[in-house]
Amino acid sequence: MRILVTRRWPQAVEKALADKFDVTFNSDDKPLSKNDLVKAMGEFDVLCPTVSDAIDAEVIAGGDRVRLIANYGVGFDHIDIAAAKAKGIAVSNTPGVLTDATADLALTLMLMATRRAGEGERQLRAGKWTGWGPTHMVGSALNGKVLGCIGFGRIGQATAARAHHGFGMKVAYYARREMPQASEVDGTFYPDLAELLAVSDVVSLHIPGGAETANLIDAAALAAMKRGSYLINTARGGVVDHEALAEALRSGQLAGAGLDVYPAEPQVPECLLGLENVVLLPHLGSANAETREAMGMRALANVEAFAAGEPLPDPVA
Ligand code: 8YV
Repeated sequence: MRILVTRRWPQAVEKALADKFDVTFNSDDKPLSKNDLVKAMGEFDVLCPTVSDAIDAEVIAGGDRVRLIANYGVGFDHIDIAAAKAKGIAVSNTPGVLTDATADLALTLMLMATRRAGEGERQLRAGKWTGWGPTHMVGSALNGKVLGCIGFGRIGQATAARAHHGFGMKVAYYARREMPQASEVDGTFYPDLAELLAVSDVVSLHIPGGAETANLIDAAALAAMKRGSYLINTARGGVVDHEALAEALRSGQLAGAGLDVYPAEPQVPECLLGLENVVLLPHLGSANAETREAMGMRALANVEAFAAGEPLPDPVA
């Protein structure tokens, strides 16, 4: 069985894979071109991509050899699932293992945005800090404020638990349906998005990307948010209309935002770059060593199950 891993993976995982299978690694770690991905469909049995590979219908039509796409990551909006299904190609992801890391990063962004950490650091590094003052760079408290989660799956709930137990926030959420009482945190369910937006001091996005959620946070949604509130996005960039967000940040409708993801990474919407009240991180949600290794091991578990003809632990198609 021939396997293609499209990017460098943590060493321990590359070794575990190479011990068991015939694996081609991408040693220089440059994202593969579309042409390379198209060709790979006819040359490998298993493709192990990441969010930096667009596995669209054209790629999937590229060849008939790949039978499993074992994605490194939980989100799979970069893979055309319908096209894979139509060809009988199985797809798996790596849920669960990056929940804590991503929730930690949502809190990082929340704290950075509300306490103006990026802005403060830029001021200091530019030599523009004139000293402590009672009104210098004053932000906003989290204690007692409402965190509105949009999407309340594993990562949304883990974020809410941290915000509630660690920082004293009240939790509200919007989701397709009311969740059974979560063990770690209780949240008030809002079946209506505009109502959730209107009661939240901080809105945090935890929904998958893709056509169904594209531009969910548009100008109307931003206008429905409380004046002076914050938006945090660790989900997918396509969920937010960034031109509308920039306008809301300029006008003061939003006090700040914290973003880890963008619609066409690694491009960052130009309209955000000059704004002081937005924290911009380079898709670091799962970026700690323990998590990145666990993600690889989880992808490996799916490859092993596939090779043994057993059901995949994490099928998405
Ligand atoms: C991953 C992520 O690092 O898992 C996800 O969905 O967004 C990231 O944290 C990335 O997707 C790897 O493919």
